[in-house]
Amino acid sequence: MKQGKLLYSGKAKSVYLTDDRDTLIVEFRDDITAFDGGKKDTLKNKGSYNAGVSAFFFEYLEKHGVKTHFITMLDNHRMAVRRLQMIPLEVIVRNVAAGSIVRNYPFKEGMKLSPPVIVIDYKDDTRHDPMLNDDLIVALKLATPAELKAIKNAALAVNRHLSALLAKQGILLVDFKLEFGRQGKTIRLGDEISMDSMRLWDTKTKESLDKDVYRFNKGDVMETYNRVAGRITNTAPRRAAPKKKAAPRKKAGVKKLAAAKTKKR
Ligand code: C5P
Repeated sequence: MKQGKLLYSGKAKSVYLTDDRDTLIVEFRDDITAFDGGKKDTLKNKGSYNAGVSAFFFEYLEKHGVKTHFITMLDNHRMAVRRLQMIPLEVIVRNVAAGSIVRNYPFKEGMKLSPPVIVIDYKDDTRHDPMLNDDLIVALKLATPAELKAIKNAALAVNRHLSALLAKQGILLVDFKLEFGRQGKTIRLGDEISMDSMRLWDTKTKESLDKDVYRFNKGDVMETYNRVAGRITNTAPRRAAPKKKAAPRKKAGVKKLAAAKTKKR
């Protein structure tokens, strides 16, 4: 597949046309921004960590029945995706109160939100992404009621699958932002799902493992992204070492086990 003209350049990703009109290439750049672009940096390898984690999640979600734009990785920071007509909504799912919901409403940080809370913002930097409600979304013709229902159902499905997956790695999925688009009549998950768009806390220590490290100067953001990307994409769950089997009682059995162990080495 041939990469063509630049179609769009955002704060951390660029989107290119290809020689196939239904396929685009998303390039995850090394740029990182926060506070509506008020804080900006370029951090080596940041793009490839986010691309790798996004690809891992998209593949996992597709396997679990969630339709996404993901086709394949082209290299460690470029992804081939299905061309979608993007819907300018930021769909945020919150399992635990943190960030703007704590600043704007009387929630205490860390309070569990059960059932999860879906907040939908209008994706418009000039208006600072104001919060919408269902009536506004339909009145603005951003989505039909049926599309809105499909979007919310997909967002909750993503939440169920990723919360369970991350829990196995000792990570709490606090909240995350999704963007959706249309491919014909089908709603598909687009954009990215990465440390830039999620809030992740270590389950035990509550240490931030996401862009909050950059936003609030909590430490070395690249060290965190490297560590968390490894934790997420390592599919083996982090568990205590399995208990050793009780030694067989019969002498012959003990011999067999010893022989097997020697062979392995
Ligand atoms: O800032 P706030 O608490 O509203 O963010 C909620 C979640 O959505 C966070 O995980 C944040 O990283 C993500 N988000 C995003 N892009 C935005 C706004 C929020 O990825 N423009």
